[in-house]
Amino acid sequence: MKFKAGKLLVAAVAATLGLTACGGGRTAETDSAAEASGFAADATIGVALPWLGSQNWKEAEVEFQEQLTAAGFKPLIQSADNKVPQQQQQIETMIQQGAKVIVVGPIDSTQLGSVVERAKAEGITIIGYDRTIDNTTGVDAVIQYSSVRTGEMQAESLLEGLRKTKGEGPYNVELFGGGPADPNAPNFFTGAMTVLQPKIDDGTITVVSGQTDFTQAAIPEWDNAKAQARMDSLLSGFYADKRIDGVLCPNDGIARSVLTSAAQAGQEAPVTTGLDAENESVLLVRDGKQYSTTAKPTDAMVAKTVEMVKTLQRGEKLTGESQMLNNGAKDVAIFELDPIVVTKENLTEVFADDEERMKLIEG
Ligand code: BGC
Repeated sequence: MKFKAGKLLVAAVAATLGLTACGGGRTAETDSAAEASGFAADATIGVALPWLGSQNWKEAEVEFQEQLTAAGFKPLIQSADNKVPQQQQQIETMIQQGAKVIVVGPIDSTQLGSVVERAKAEGITIIGYDRTIDNTTGVDAVIQYSSVRTGEMQAESLLEGLRKTKGEGPYNVELFGGGPADPNAPNFFTGAMTVLQPKIDDGTITVVSGQTDFTQAAIPEWDNAKAQARMDSLLSGFYADKRIDGVLCPNDGIARSVLTSAAQAGQEAPVTTGLDAENESVLLVRDGKQYSTTAKPTDAMVAKTVEMVKTLQRGEKLTGESQMLNNGAKDVAIFELDPIVVTKENLTEVFADDEERMKLIEG
């Protein structure tokens, strides 16, 4: 699965090249062992992915394999089926295999402390990929599409979709969050609520169920079946005699589950948001069934990660601007890229250079 950055995406990514973060953060302060000494140009690089349950992670597996190999490294890539002990074991194996850098998309941001601290003690650099690694001194840097901004953009798109397709408010809306162990999930929700809370307060939006806390909205492990079950019970419990106008959906899998549930309940499709520009959802956006998705191109984020690995290999510091964020144990440099909201209107513009998605869209 190749996700080629389109024109808009290229502009967004170009803005961050050279490890320049958006948002005007300050210069990165990283101090990994590799930055001091460098390592062999054909070193083993570990990549520990959380699962392959959404398209972005499948793309990451393919892209890391291709791009690390092309850069001359030996990739050692594993995914852990959302099982924390399995991921801990996979990272242990990467340490034993002599990896110089381990790139980690954690299943649970707080459950990797001891294994990444052991890796760091061995002189290995740990980079959080897509998700932060919290409450540990073992992480050296993080690369991701800004997670709070993602949530804000999803909420802005939800409001735009309601205005454009559901007439005058007030609108009946429900809120969904991702898996609570994934640090992105509360960040997406927090970002979204900065936009939605004022609209709830001024009466533009009514959350009929009253379930506005992340803990009520969260879908364990980002499981689509659990999302559909929650939507089923919201619709039967609160919407037997009401129309649902919109649903905040944190990714494409959850959006499709929500749409299926709404159709089964005989509801007109609510305005739904999403994330990842998954193939199935790109088609739903094209056909006006899912209002929007949010693209965070995997090839560009992997390219940036591989750039970081090359910098470390040369024994150079990861310089450039980044946001320094405290992870509960230390300040960590977060390098961020900009996500892009995709609707029916800008679909072909965003994916202009993405042959595969364009073929889908035109097919
Ligand atoms: C990623 C999303 C993905 C979700 C579920 C999040 O951490 O940022 O792209 O849809 O995990 O896999």
